[in-house]
Amino acid sequence: MKKLIIANWKSNKTFEGVQKWMEADTAWNTNTDTVDIVIAPPFPTLLYVSNKLLDRKKFPNVFLGVQDLSSYPAGKYTGAVSGQNLEGFHVIYAILGHSERRRYFHETDKDVALKIEQALSHGIKPVVCVDEEYIESQARQIDDVVLKKCIVAYEPIEAIGSGVAEDVGHVKKVVEKIRNVFGEVPVIYGGSVDDMNVNEYLLVTDGVLVGTASLDPEMFGRILASV
Ligand code: PGA
Repeated sequence: MKKLIIANWKSNKTFEGVQKWMEADTAWNTNTDTVDIVIAPPFPTLLYVSNKLLDRKKFPNVFLGVQDLSSYPAGKYTGAVSGQNLEGFHVIYAILGHSERRRYFHETDKDVALKIEQALSHGIKPVVCVDEEYIESQARQIDDVVLKKCIVAYEPIEAIGSGVAEDVGHVKKVVEKIRNVFGEVPVIYGGSVDDMNVNEYLLVTDGVLVGTASLDPEMFGRILASV
């Protein structure tokens, strides 16, 4: 499997900032055989980024992701973004159950399981974020058949946005633990990944989820170049 490098901009950036990022002089067509890149922009800029990514010559291995998805289908759910809303945008991945969603928006394991079902029913690959302590409780909420369709992101809360990434040896152990629970699924790591440490994590995982270091196109380009 190709390594997955996901840029999660969270709720940062103006529209102009997103335009500048997409126009930046990043070398997109390196490592196309070994790496797939995902950009998960804020929802208001999804259409813009989606249209940009249609240029497959410039972005041969860059795919669109969302940072969340409604746990409900289309309908009377004001403010929610449903799988149906995303049809036609070429969304390939959905980051689900990020610790910031769990912490600030009180998402439960059950909510995340419903989101996974919604994503899959719209042909979107779920990237399910877990910290060590809720690997099992999260998996218990997910149907056995569905478990094997997930990509799991190990995201230790203390490493996110702190500049202090998790010990690689520990990441390796948690990756095994996740596979014991979810099955032979792709597992990626997220938490203070940058151009200096990315390769260590790629040795023991199937990819990385990058927050802070994805905000600046130059910095993100350095990560891609060092892989
Ligand atoms: P970070 O964020 O790279 O800023 O630590 C990672 C994440 O939230 O997944």
